[in-house]
Amino acid sequence: MGDPLRVAIAGLGTVGSGTVRLIEANAGLLAARTGREIVITAVADLDPRDRGFATESYRWYDNALAMAENTDADVIVELIGGAEGIARKVCETAIARGRHVVTANKALIAHHGTDLARAAEAAGVTLAYEAAVGGGIPVIKSLREGLVGNACERVYGILNGTCNYILTAMRESGRGFQEVLAEAQALGYAEADPSFDVDGVDTAHKLAILASVAFGCTVDFAAVHIEGIRQISADDIAFADELGYRIKLLGIAKRTPAGVERRVHPCMVPLGSPIAHVEGVFNAVVADGDFVDTIIQVGRGAGERPTASAVVADIADIARGNRVATFAVSAAELAALPAASMQNHRGAYYVRLMVLDKPGVFADIAAILRDHDVSMEAVIQRARAPGEAVPVVMTTHETAESAMTHCLAAIQRLPFCQEAPHMIRIEPF
Ligand SMILES: NC(=O)c1ccc[n+]([C@@H]2O[C@H](COP(=O)([O-])OP(=O)(O)OC[C@H]3O[C@@H](n4cnc5c(N)ncnc54)[C@H](OP(=O)(O)O)[C@@H]3O)[C@@H](O)[C@H]2O)c1
Repeated sequence: MGDPLRVAIAGLGTVGSGTVRLIEANAGLLAARTGREIVITAVADLDPRDRGFATESYRWYDNALAMAENTDADVIVELIGGAEGIARKVCETAIARGRHVVTANKALIAHHGTDLARAAEAAGVTLAYEAAVGGGIPVIKSLREGLVGNACERVYGILNGTCNYILTAMRESGRGFQEVLAEAQALGYAEADPSFDVDGVDTAHKLAILASVAFGCTVDFAAVHIEGIRQISADDIAFADELGYRIKLLGIAKRTPAGVERRVHPCMVPLGSPIAHVEGVFNAVVADGDFVDTIIQVGRGAGERPTASAVVADIADIARGNRVATFAVSAAELAALPAASMQNHRGAYYVRLMVLDKPGVFADIAAILRDHDVSMEAVIQRARAPGEAVPVVMTTHETAESAMTHCLAAIQRLPFCQEAPHMIRIEPF
């Protein structure tokens, strides 16, 4: 048995407490597998309230930065959260003092991952963040190590359990977004302020990280195109069903001749696609490797126990001495790949219109599509109500996003169009 690995944990909330509990519960298993005892030497949080374990067993700090500055631990585990402030300072300080860092903080890695990786590499320490993407799914390890022999052209997934829960519940119950969101908040599946989740920011943090690992590029959160799920209506969900699709909030990173697409938005995915059946709070990550073909991993993307599982996997790697470049290639060699503009994106589209039911409507819409070289695949008008507003849905064949943007602007100007057209991209997975 080697020397014990000393671990100090900053932040004892959901993930921090879970991490302590896992290390306590599976100490023997971890020692047998890593060849070293993993020993928690210090913990830090704002107050020593009941955390579900004996906090007095460990050296207590009520200042996480003081712990990072003074502890003799080999590893500092940052589980406070936030892209700036204390979490960033704790990680920077730990690296500067030659300590390995493990974090679950996707916001921090999405915004400062490249700089932190460079600092860690210069200091000769590990910066590990498995828990930042996909919760308990070992997605970083599988992309970076399991698929090391593959060129990866695309990685995508359902990366936010809150959104997937809301979309699943909307479909199963036929209820609208606001009602289901309120229920998700009451059940603890959504935060009191749900904007990071439902507006797509959390998914974008994770996607920026995935793109970096998959393509060996700098972590470029600013390059991510972000749309959330607030505009998805019960009608969209019902029409999707009728057309043979499920609506999912996806993060998609793809290499194209025009640059790297990094986009987060609701998508219609065919019912035949495995990802269409990943429901509720589950996450899924799909990667295309040139030799392995397509792999899909599904699991719990959040929660105390799954996230602690990922945090401890990183700690175990450090205990074993497994050293891998933070984002698969040396931080010094991460490429700043050009970003593809959304207007260059090509794909099929679903469009929902609210139009007055009167003669000539379809002819005018068809003329606009024809003028922009957009070819319609299907049209659905459920009910007739002459002179009144009715929903009309159409899907297109593959076309350029720029053409769709112009079409929707022109359709919105038509006198019978009662509200802004709503568009959802169709992905042929
Ligand atoms: N929860 C999940 O399922 C999940 C999944 C994947 C990744 N993550 C990531 O894991 C990290 C932690 O998330 P979490 O859900 O565990 O958050 P959390 O429950 O809010 O825990 C954060 C803890 O840090 C404490 N804290 C705040 N400021 C501090 C400071 N200056 N010094 C020391 N402690 C401080 C908080 O204390 P107070 O409560 O008193 O403020 C709280 O106990 C975040 O980066 C999150 O994005 C979470």
